[in-house]
Amino acid sequence: MANVADRSQRGKFITFEGLDGCGKSTQLENLAAALRAEKIDVVTTREPGGSAIGERIRAVLLDSRTAGLDPQAEMALMFASRAQLIAEVILPALAAGNWVLCDRFTDSTEAYQGAGRGLGSEPVLELHKVLCGSVWPDLTILMDSDVNSSVSRARRRNKTAEHDENRFEKESLAFFTRVHEGFLKIAEREPGRVVKIDARPPIEVVHEEIARVVWSKLRSEERRDRSD
Ligand code: TYD
Repeated sequence: MANVADRSQRGKFITFEGLDGCGKSTQLENLAAALRAEKIDVVTTREPGGSAIGERIRAVLLDSRTAGLDPQAEMALMFASRAQLIAEVILPALAAGNWVLCDRFTDSTEAYQGAGRGLGSEPVLELHKVLCGSVWPDLTILMDSDVNSSVSRARRRNKTAEHDENRFEKESLAFFTRVHEGFLKIAEREPGRVVKIDARPPIEVVHEEIARVVWSKLRSEERRDRSD
């Protein structure tokens, strides 16, 4: 299994997580712009998708015509897209010293397929070990939002979208409540990696908070690298 370069020599890997419609994609772009303004090379990507092959897998996963997709098959396709993204985009970018900002990663599989579909955390973490090895984010921003308002925002948005990406938005509020709880459980389990941010304030306020977390985390990691 290919592995990432020495921690001190590679870029940082930051993921954004949260419910559909929580505003994470906007915040990811805003953080990318702020980092670029500091002369940091940034690669932005998303899951499922992010590579040519991954985007084809995304089309299968999100199209509401794929309503009959079995939860295990759904989980496997999420990981297929992820394995391709890691090999093609994430590892090469980090090795070249870029920072990678990724919209969703394995925490989404644990929250949506593990908690939402009821497959449990264990198979997700096992599959991650087999297919993704030690590739975990240096920092995960969990955009915490209210289930009702996030889901209605996502449903409104997808009604006007060019492509049919509605399969998940058709799920019940009970499903999204389980997903939300799944995310909170991950944040409690891994406080060193996952930072929960209140997604409800205005965009600029949320951005400032994310930037503060990113810089303080970066500085503490630099200090740790120096003392290694
Ligand atoms: P995304 O494009 O982030 O949608 P949104 O912008 O609405 O948040 O993600 C697409 C959908 O895929 C989203 O409903 C969550 C789902 N998903 C999973 O169920 N498992 C996963 O592992 C990933 C990466 C996404």
